[in-house]
Amino acid sequence: MAHQVNGVVAAAKGGPVKLVPILVPDPGPGEALVRVKACGVCHTDLHYREGAINDDFPFLLGHEASGTVESVGDGVTNVAPGDFVIIAWRAPCGTCRSCLRGVPWYCFSSRNASQPMTLADGTPLSPALGIGAFAELTLVDAGQAVKVSPKASPEAAGLVGCGIMAGIGAAMHTGNVGRGDSVAVFGCGGVGNAAIAGARLAGAHTIIGVDLDDRKLAWAKEFGATHTINASSTDPVEEIRKLTGGNGVNVAIEAVGNPLTYEQAFYARDHAGTVVLVGVPSPDMKIELPLLEIFGRGGSLKSSWYGDCLPSRDFPMLIDLYLQGRLDLDRFVSETIGIGDVEEAFHKMERGEVLRSVVVF
Ligand SMILES: NC(=O)c1ccc[n+]([C@@H]2O[C@H](COP(=O)([O-])OP(=O)(O)OC[C@H]3O[C@@H](n4cnc5c(N)ncnc54)[C@H](O)[C@@H]3O)[C@@H](O)[C@H]2O)c1
Ligand SMILES: [Zn+2]
Ligand SMILES: [Zn+2]
Repeated sequence: MAHQVNGVVAAAKGGPVKLVPILVPDPGPGEALVRVKACGVCHTDLHYREGAINDDFPFLLGHEASGTVESVGDGVTNVAPGDFVIIAWRAPCGTCRSCLRGVPWYCFSSRNASQPMTLADGTPLSPALGIGAFAELTLVDAGQAVKVSPKASPEAAGLVGCGIMAGIGAAMHTGNVGRGDSVAVFGCGGVGNAAIAGARLAGAHTIIGVDLDDRKLAWAKEFGATHTINASSTDPVEEIRKLTGGNGVNVAIEAVGNPLTYEQAFYARDHAGTVVLVGVPSPDMKIELPLLEIFGRGGSLKSSWYGDCLPSRDFPMLIDLYLQGRLDLDRFVSETIGIGDVEEAFHKMERGEVLRSVVVF
């Protein structure tokens, strides 16, 4: 049986999203049907709507979600109806060449539901990041449903499903930030501020937040930035050098998705430091760097997909840190909104008014 619920759909490139009836099938083997409780509005949803990810319209948006397992298909053992879960966009397959090499966070065939969710007329939907959770119900592979403590607030927990994990993981896993390190984060939106929180958790000594917007920089301080730089009035590379004894930072994290900030991150690094690109560029973006600088500065230039996380390992850990009062996830929730308010939330994001608007059901 298919369930008819309302979902937020991007039908065409650049057009406003609409709330429309969609059909969500009952779970088949290995699948889980999740009743969504909360879903954050991430910049990646906006990238989908803009056609910057791919052209597989119509998209069912929403991918930063928590909810309760409604029912499961045959053979599902990791979750049961009633479990409180965060939905992950990575569920390692266990058999691809990355999984077999012991680096499952690089899995090449991460699992998703095999049955499609559709529009009322049967047109298959492309769920954002294989999730599609701006809807009362969503169908995922059971491996995407990660059980966490139900004591967490659904709004805060949902954010762990994308932006928070991407940012914290960019610092902790990809950047391998350690005790005493200096870190700069370019772009202090939801993802960048999570990187700042991750750098603090990892024991960084100097944490520099860079943004164009003073509101974002004020939030960065609350998450643990020791210094902030407004790049609209100050050259961030020069300023970062000044703040680090003339050397630059050990780890520079780019959380905008822009060639200019990537280049700033590249030059703001100390000798043999690490650049981590977590911001998602659009297909037209290009960068030119002197090859000699890439060689001479040494270190590493890395990309961070989902903070190189393993959801089943990392989500429960982050929720425990939150419940212990060591990671303030509630502070990322700028506002709660209804499912009909996603388009307006995109505009608030573009105007820099929010870290996260979160749809609650
Ligand atoms: N790699 C991943 O796994 C992953 C996961 C989630 C999101 N993302 C990406 O991370 C990026 C950030 O996402 P978000 O939700 O935090 O977006 P956001 O819009 O909330 O934040 C972006 C921030 O960058 C700032 N900014 C823009 N131009 C700047 C500049 N020139 N210098 C300094 N700051 C600048 C903005 O003021 C804003 O605060 C997006 O590209 C998103 O798609 C990546
Ligand atoms: Zn795999
Ligand atoms: Zn996201």
